[in-house]
Amino acid sequence: MRTQVCIIGGGPSGLLLSQLLHRSGIDTVVLEARSRAYVAGRIRAGLLEWGSVETLRAAGVGARMDRDGIPDDGVVLASQHGDFRIDIKALTGKRMMIYGQTEITADLFSARDAMNGVIIDEVEGVRPHGLDTGAPHVTYSKGGTSYRIDCDWVIGCDGYHGVSRTCIPSDTLKTFERIYPFGWLGVLSETPPVSRKIVYANHPRGFALCSLRNEMLSRYYVQVPADDAVVGWSDDAFWDELRRRLPDSLSDGIVTGPSIEKSIAPLRSFVAEPMRWGRLCLAGDAAHIVPPTGAKGLNLAISDVSYLHDALVAHFGGDDAGIDGYSARALNRVWKAIRFSWWFTSTMHRFPDQNDFDQRIQDSELAYLEASAAAQTVLAEQYVGLPY
Ligand code: APR
Ligand code: PHB
Repeated sequence: MRTQVCIIGGGPSGLLLSQLLHRSGIDTVVLEARSRAYVAGRIRAGLLEWGSVETLRAAGVGARMDRDGIPDDGVVLASQHGDFRIDIKALTGKRMMIYGQTEITADLFSARDAMNGVIIDEVEGVRPHGLDTGAPHVTYSKGGTSYRIDCDWVIGCDGYHGVSRTCIPSDTLKTFERIYPFGWLGVLSETPPVSRKIVYANHPRGFALCSLRNEMLSRYYVQVPADDAVVGWSDDAFWDELRRRLPDSLSDGIVTGPSIEKSIAPLRSFVAEPMRWGRLCLAGDAAHIVPPTGAKGLNLAISDVSYLHDALVAHFGGDDAGIDGYSARALNRVWKAIRFSWWFTSTMHRFPDQNDFDQRIQDSELAYLEASAAAQTVLAEQYVGLPY
């Protein structure tokens, strides 16, 4: 088989890239290791930057998001000293959208099917070859038969554990990492959310977050030790802990119910450089991971894909400036989001070795944010998403 762009990984990055390229007349094949049901069922964050909203609309997958998503123009920061709202819309002129990644994946699958997009799932042993030549190819097997795809470009959208990043020679690849000494225990429940605004709470017992998907679907998180197991957390224990970490004004309004999903995610920051080597480009989690504070993971994947789409369209039109500049351009935005989510994580969480000095620094940071329009603007323009 031959295609112009072979995309390894059919998560949000791979599906969106194939959708955008197809609409621009560029042929793609997506190779995905898991089943479609598995990819469609993954529960992740649900907060879109304004740029992500615009990119999804440009990809022709914005209709359901615009109908069912919840436009979001502010964020609440809470602590033992009270809570305050940052008016993102007033400070930046832009707003976010609350719309789950699960829904985005469903929209992308429908759009790909409607265009007869080629997504080959449940593939094994995917391996790129000849990436340092002008004519790479990818081999894989499915159902015991081996296949080969010849292509012009290989795009690694295969997440943190994928094969693509490992193809960059070790003397070229440089990685940067920060592992945080805690995780997030997340619960999805069919209960009315306590607030229509997303609430980030700093508390001596640890961080807590109140988020939502719709009028009858709430998403809450509490910080837990990195080695906690989800089986050790009953629903009752979760709700008790969440309430303890919120100001009374909020905890009194929490409506509890059975969890329909409960999981623990570790927190890490990770960047791989460069994001292009020969005929391979990386996008999304294959190249970088952020801690979930601020929900930048999916949004960074979308901005990478937007840059890559523009670069590949120009390349097939005879102009290589975009593809030659892809890595530097993407990494410039990636590092700003890495810095923001590191700062937001550091400001809002309880670290195991945190002393009274550290606590006062966090309190002072929040007090400054509450009182200073300049500080709020710094948060707001990053939270709503830096321009592409
Ligand atoms: N061959 C084929 N597919 C692979 C391989 C492989 N060797 N390794 C991994 N994959 C697939 C995974 O099964 C997964 O479906 O690549 C996909 C990668 O998807 P994500 O990990 O979701 O990464 P990405 O599409 O970049 O999405 C980034 O979405 O999933 C969230 O936390 C993530 O918010 C971040 C954003
Ligand atoms: C979520 O809704 O899952 C969410 C929202 C905001 C975050 C992280 C996760 O910062």
